[in-house]
Amino acid sequence: MLEFTKSGLYLKFAAHYKRKKSVMNFEFTEEHLMIQQAARDFAETELLPGVIERDNEQRFPMEQVRKMGELGFMGLMVDPKYGGAGMDAVSYVLAMEEISKIDASASVVMSVNNSLVCWGLEEYGSEEQKQKFLVPLAQGKIHGGFCLSEPEAGSDATSQRTTAIDKGDHYLLNGTKNWITNGNTADTFLVIAQTDVEKGHRGINALIVTKDMPGFVVGKKEDKLGIRGSDTHSLMFQDVKVPKENRIGADGFGFKFAMKVLSGGRIGIASQALGIASGAYERSVSYSKERKAFGTEIMNHQAIAFKLADMATEIEMARLLCLKAAWLKDNDLDYARASSMAKLVASETAMKTTVEAVQVHGGYGFVKEYHVERLMRDAKITQIYEGTSEIQRVVISRDILKD
Ligand code: CAA
Repeated sequence: MLEFTKSGLYLKFAAHYKRKKSVMNFEFTEEHLMIQQAARDFAETELLPGVIERDNEQRFPMEQVRKMGELGFMGLMVDPKYGGAGMDAVSYVLAMEEISKIDASASVVMSVNNSLVCWGLEEYGSEEQKQKFLVPLAQGKIHGGFCLSEPEAGSDATSQRTTAIDKGDHYLLNGTKNWITNGNTADTFLVIAQTDVEKGHRGINALIVTKDMPGFVVGKKEDKLGIRGSDTHSLMFQDVKVPKENRIGADGFGFKFAMKVLSGGRIGIASQALGIASGAYERSVSYSKERKAFGTEIMNHQAIAFKLADMATEIEMARLLCLKAAWLKDNDLDYARASSMAKLVASETAMKTTVEAVQVHGGYGFVKEYHVERLMRDAKITQIYEGTSEIQRVVISRDILKD
């Protein structure tokens, strides 16, 4: 209660005053907790067995991805009328974190399918495109890929060399895309290509391309440092005839489409990074309670305890940013800056935490059975794909300085 006196404005507390409940709510709903538990159970029972072998052999988790589809993880945020699970973006963060704690190769498939492909189609696709392409993608019967990067257009995404020439009833697609997640396993791709060079980024289109179209060629498989179980290929388009009805949105909307889709995608990758970090942290806590040195469990040495404290604090920071970005998205508020902040902090945290986790594990951390060396290798890509840490800083700085 407020009261004016001669000397100014004072807060007056009545005897019956009860502290107000904060409107800002950090509690999860029962549904959030259920999805988190379901993702944790799935990751521990279905993804953990064989995760080291899949990484060694660079083997895609096909069976596991199929099961993720059956459980609704591949179209988590899609409206049930289009075959999705109808969950919010907060649930998506929670599920992504749990899956990524165990297997970041599986979670990148989930992230690309959910936030780049399904969300892009649901938000900007026509009703026919949704019925034809979104439904099987959201049901997890097939999965998708997103083709923006090129040999000479990574961070500088407006410099597209792939061309989609307008031929009346179709576009003639030619060019090469690089580092395409799900390049060999996906069936449906959203391809960004230049139609009108004179118009620069306003002359770019986003086209739905399917693997069975003549002229679609799967190129080299990348031999990667991390997320080795995921499938990363270059793709070539050689005179691929893409029907006009496969263009997403109006003519020239392709670059904006890519940017909008990536704003949501960055929440997915931020959550993946968060999961990699928290997986490494949880393993470090368990290990430090078991491993003894100098007559006591290593958690009793401040050198280790402080590392764990830093990991826990930084992970919490990353988690809050991921959830804030998801909350903004769920409430139809502007989330581009927040998703870049979440991705920047979560991916830097993933890198730092996993390096420290290897250190906590000592010699055991350097070998495969203890998982943390894999998590460390997997962490690196989160600072690179869907916009490097430097690009996130570009997005954030432009946004804070725009007014
Ligand atoms: N939402 C809507 N529109 C946006 C936008 C956003 N978040 N960001 C930019 N735009 C619009 C701008 O308004 C502008 O349009 P107008 O001129 O009509 O106003 C247009 O896009 C061009 O924007 P800029 O002038 O800012 O373009 P730029 O060349 O300076 O750079 C960039 C923009 C942010 C650096 C962008 O190029 C970028 O994000 N680069 C990184 C690309 C990237 O993330 N690649 C990841 C590949 S996908 C992947 O990794 C998937 C996977 O497999 C895991």
